[in-house]
Amino acid sequence: MALYSETVMDHFQNPRNVGEMPDADGIGEVGNAVCGDIMRMYIKVRDGIITDVKFKTFGCGSAIASSSMATEMIKGKPITEALELSNKAVAEALDGLPAHKLHCSVLAEEAVRAAVKDYYDKQGIAYDPAVFGCEDCAKAHEHDHAAGEA
Ligand code: FES
Repeated sequence: MALYSETVMDHFQNPRNVGEMPDADGIGEVGNAVCGDIMRMYIKVRDGIITDVKFKTFGCGSAIASSSMATEMIKGKPITEALELSNKAVAEALDGLPAHKLHCSVLAEEAVRAAVKDYYDKQGIAYDPAVFGCEDCAKAHEHDHAAGEA
């Protein structure tokens, strides 16, 4: 069996929605400290719907395929649905990734979430930091609140 599915190869060789978005409503940049790959995701939001998505990935083929697939999966969807996008769903949509490449799809999930978080922050939309599953963000938030109240 080939290491990579045809879908992975297709999205790697013909990635969808590649590029930058100068007027993005939210930008998420994440990296993996181990492999050093970096992914940046841009979203445009209108009335709670993600109307456009672009990405730039400096990374391996699986990371490029994962980000390409992720953009297709959230485009035209409500922002709340994008938040629910899991790396498992991305990997499944790609017809699987080798076990040692699953972390590449995690990067895509994290980049989408980071872009949504950035959108919320820029718009001043309140959210529960726990939604982003990031204790550091939650702490930073508490800190902001504490500073604001001081
Ligand atoms: Fe790290 Fe693919 S090898 S994102």
